[in-house]
Amino acid sequence: MTARQVALITGASSGIGEATARRLAKEGFDLILVARREERLRELQAELEKEFGGSKGLSVGTMVLDITDREAVRSAFQSQKDLKIQDLLKRLHVLVSNAGLAKGVDPMPEAKVEDWETMIETNVLGLLYVTRFALDFIKPNRGHLVNLGSVAGRWTYPGGGVYCATKAAVLAITEGLRLDLQGSGVRVTNIEPGKVSTEFSLVRYKDPDRARKEYEGYEPLAPDDIADCIAWSVTRPPHVNIQEMVIFPTAQASVTHLVRK
Ligand SMILES: NC(=O)c1ccc[n+]([C@@H]2O[C@H](COP(=O)([O-])OP(=O)(O)OC[C@H]3O[C@@H](n4cnc5c(N)ncnc54)[C@H](OP(=O)(O)O)[C@@H]3O)[C@@H](O)[C@H]2O)c1
Repeated sequence: MTARQVALITGASSGIGEATARRLAKEGFDLILVARREERLRELQAELEKEFGGSKGLSVGTMVLDITDREAVRSAFQSQKDLKIQDLLKRLHVLVSNAGLAKGVDPMPEAKVEDWETMIETNVLGLLYVTRFALDFIKPNRGHLVNLGSVAGRWTYPGGGVYCATKAAVLAITEGLRLDLQGSGVRVTNIEPGKVSTEFSLVRYKDPDRARKEYEGYEPLAPDDIADCIAWSVTRPPHVNIQEMVIFPTAQASVTHLVRK
């Protein structure tokens, strides 16, 4: 019997990451769930173990981690004390670098510099830290890195300049990884969604009413729609690399063209 493959998902406490954890558990992956909110990770771990554990064989570990803390990320991989996580890391095949956020939509002359720092530290540096230390474990041949970019990485919109810059960086980092890993058999994929209904807008606007309005009058993508794309990418035969997927809701024709009823 071949050992079960392990997927590590950052940002598994909410939205796309949480949906991806559920979907990959169903596909037969063991999981390492990463985020800062411990309680949410524990609830998801318990739910998945109940549904897919026992005779179905699922093993789930949690890493409570702020990915912007370089030394904490280093230590989580290089000095991991938890024996279950140590075992899971030995079988690490898939890294889903999903943790990310947007802060504010202020025009650049009025924007908060702290918001820019948070976005760059999380979406770019945090993703790089996790990728670098996870790569020591990712298996050649069956390994797969999946990055959560965005349509914002291809097209810039007003008030989104710095968020869009971070996602353009994710696209370039993804391409760089694919070039540098060529020959290893490790696949590298960039997933680029349009509007997905998650906590993303609440984090961005810090205003529940404003966040709710973001998804009113049309059908946005659901986290499951993106989890579907990720699951499909990582379950292709080993010689097939889905390099990029751009996914909009049908009502959204571009980053600035959205039809609401
Ligand atoms: N929603 C959209 O419309 C959309 C569109 C395109 C791309 N995306 C991208 O998709 C990804 C997932 O977003 P989502 O929509 O699912 O948003 P979400 O529901 O807000 O989830 C974001 C996740 O990132 C985690 N996270 C944020 N900062 C972190 C940090 N410093 N350390 C560890 N984890 C951190 C959060 O967990 P904790 O708070 O518990 O740490 C949470 O689990 C992001 O990269 C986002 O940019 C979203």
